[in-house]
Amino acid sequence: MNWGIIGLGKIARQFADDLRLLPNARLHAVASTSLERAGAFATEFGAAHFFGRYEDIVHCPDLDVVYVATPHPFHCENTLLCLENGLPVLCEKPFAMNMAEARRMVAAARRNRVFLMEALWTKFIPAFEQVSQMVENGEIGKLHTIKADFGFKMPFDPDSRLYNKALGGGSLLDLGIYPALLSLSFFGKPEPENICAAATFTATDVDESCAFIFQYPEGRLALCHATVAANTSLSAHLYGTEGTIFLHPRWHHTQKITVSRYDGRQESFRDLDIPYIGRGYSYEAAHVMQCLENELLESETVPLDFTLDLVETLDTIREKIGLVY
Ligand SMILES: NC(=O)c1ccc[n+]([C@@H]2O[C@H](COP(=O)([O-])OP(=O)(O)OC[C@H]3O[C@@H](n4cnc5c(N)ncnc54)[C@H](OP(=O)(O)O)[C@@H]3O)[C@@H](O)[C@H]2O)c1
Repeated sequence: MNWGIIGLGKIARQFADDLRLLPNARLHAVASTSLERAGAFATEFGAAHFFGRYEDIVHCPDLDVVYVATPHPFHCENTLLCLENGLPVLCEKPFAMNMAEARRMVAAARRNRVFLMEALWTKFIPAFEQVSQMVENGEIGKLHTIKADFGFKMPFDPDSRLYNKALGGGSLLDLGIYPALLSLSFFGKPEPENICAAATFTATDVDESCAFIFQYPEGRLALCHATVAANTSLSAHLYGTEGTIFLHPRWHHTQKITVSRYDGRQESFRDLDIPYIGRGYSYEAAHVMQCLENELLESETVPLDFTLDLVETLDTIREKIGLVY
């Protein structure tokens, strides 16, 4: 299957590297804001076509699917460009800056009957799939609490993507989306009946740190934290009535989990190593190809309604902390 990439930054490079692990995938075309960068990227990764304007990639012959890897504020425009030209899209997270954009993207996919999925790679990491299975099978009883953090100490640079408001900077949309997706994955619908959130802000007026709590019916809680001001433990805990699952760092693409079970006052522990190949991005790409081969218009693992729920949740947190883009 012939892949294209729009936006040739850090994640595009890692994704292109992992595509090489898939025998049925080929990087076919790349588009950049710089023709020179596109040419160099195409040479390095063996892509047959390269373009110095995003608009041109949609006319590339034999292109099967496009990976949108630009900063968040451009996801909507770049995705619409592909969908309106009949090209399936895997769009980086966060899918959109807000619900208005997300609804337009989903409507375009449905109207044009073209495949669209948010690149929530965590969902396809083998260890994460195993955790999902364990929770579903009741291995830790009834799940009642989720605790997850995601923090990196990023040096302050007002022009960098993480701090620049015009590029969608801030900890919530870049990092906090992961604890939010963890919670939505396991507690799902109905939506949290209450969301509490607090944030601190940078001089560029984006959230430096953001903490949020989701409260669900039947006494279930998710405690989440994201920051660009510190290296946090990058781990996650799922607490159930009969045990706990610990997702080792970095939990959002972990290769190791520890399952503990309570037996009266005794607790037993079991470590499981569940490695993945490459950097972990080939699994989402393989899933997209499988969907396309089966002529699906959306993924059953990351359906568009899940993405809309996630964007809506991030919108609610932003409203609570007063973050407006
Ligand atoms: N799934 C993951 O693990 C993961 C990890 C990191 C990032 N991401 C997501 O991927 C997206 C890109 O992140 P990144 O870290 O790869 O960013 P990055 O290194 O800054 O690259 C983004 C690329 O987008 C293009 N671009 C278009 N307009 C731009 C503008 N006005 N300013 C800056 N760049 C612009 C540029 O490429 P050209 O000039 O070549 O077009 C740039 O190299 C973000 O939405 C982020 O949340 C996901």
